[in-house]
Amino acid sequence: MNGPGVSNAQVRSRISGTGSYLPERCVTNAELAQRVDTSDEWISTRTGIRQRHFAAEGQLASDLALEAARRAIEAAGLQPADIGLVIVATTTPDVVFPSTACILQQKLGIAGCPAYDLQAVCSGFVYALSSADLAVRAGQCRHALVVGAEVYSRILDWNDRSTCVLFGDGAGAVVLSATDGPGILSSHLHADGSFSGILGVPARIDSGRVEGAPFVHMDGNAVFRFAVRVLAEAAHEALDANGLAPADIDWLVPHQANIRIIESTARKLGLPMERVVVTVDRHANTSAASIPLALDTAVRDGRIRPGQLVLLEGVGGGFTWGSVLLRW
Ligand code: UT7
Repeated sequence: MNGPGVSNAQVRSRISGTGSYLPERCVTNAELAQRVDTSDEWISTRTGIRQRHFAAEGQLASDLALEAARRAIEAAGLQPADIGLVIVATTTPDVVFPSTACILQQKLGIAGCPAYDLQAVCSGFVYALSSADLAVRAGQCRHALVVGAEVYSRILDWNDRSTCVLFGDGAGAVVLSATDGPGILSSHLHADGSFSGILGVPARIDSGRVEGAPFVHMDGNAVFRFAVRVLAEAAHEALDANGLAPADIDWLVPHQANIRIIESTARKLGLPMERVVVTVDRHANTSAASIPLALDTAVRDGRIRPGQLVLLEGVGGGFTWGSVLLRW
């Protein structure tokens, strides 16, 4: 626990600051087409992706997380020492252990508060935000740092053009703070392990050896169909639970995997694309980092404003999916 606990049963949590970070190196589709049998035309029409960022050699998830975290803490008007909980959602941790969250905590120059990683692949940020919300509302801390950070470039098979063109590296972060004002209204999380075979990195470390292929493996069509179905369902679930309708949503901030999945979700909700935050064109799929990267983009460019209803939605390997609905 950091500082005095929050005992008020009515307490909510609100996002008090956002931040994000993209590694310097930006790779366009055309550049990728020089090393992989693909084209800008195929990638952009099938996915909406035009470019992605790749981490420099030796740059780890915790390095990206640190930059995003510093920006979120600054935006919240806080110091690292004010943080009472650190959760990092990542599928590409620095090492097997210690957790990337513990490494991030050390890089932030703080100690003592709980820190842990959360593994729910592309739904990781929504899962982590939900966990942090529970901790803040239970009075375990006043300010929680929630980060999504990924270096997918390390787990891409450059001989598999159906996956290697889809992903990028980056990090996004938020500070979640106790409030008696507006904030997170609800979160709904789901998983169905029977779909574990359609998306994964089917490798493990065993007695000093890597067993299995340590690269992203995906049945793209099956993932596409699954994502389109559950993102619409999850949106309705969140809205129904709060007595709201799709028309009440000011901003939908979905996981950024493919523009066609995003457009299909918006269409099913009857939501114009003008109310959907899209960054997949510039960031590609950054897994657990995609939602906080998109959120920070729309907060910093002034689109998301106080009083607005914002729906965050994730879906990814596991399979996992879920939403966080909040009043900004
Ligand atoms: O974060 C969650 C995880 N990811 C997702 O949500 C991704 C979900 N899936 C998708 O976004 C889409 O399924 C893909 C973008 C992966 C694929 O799009 P698609 O329209 O479903 O294409 P497809 O897999 O049916 O492939 C169509 C063709 C194939 O050629 P043939 O067999 O029709 O001759 C592929 O070999 O496109 C070919 N192809 C490519 N061509 C050029 C596959 N990848 C590429 C490529 N460049 N990079």
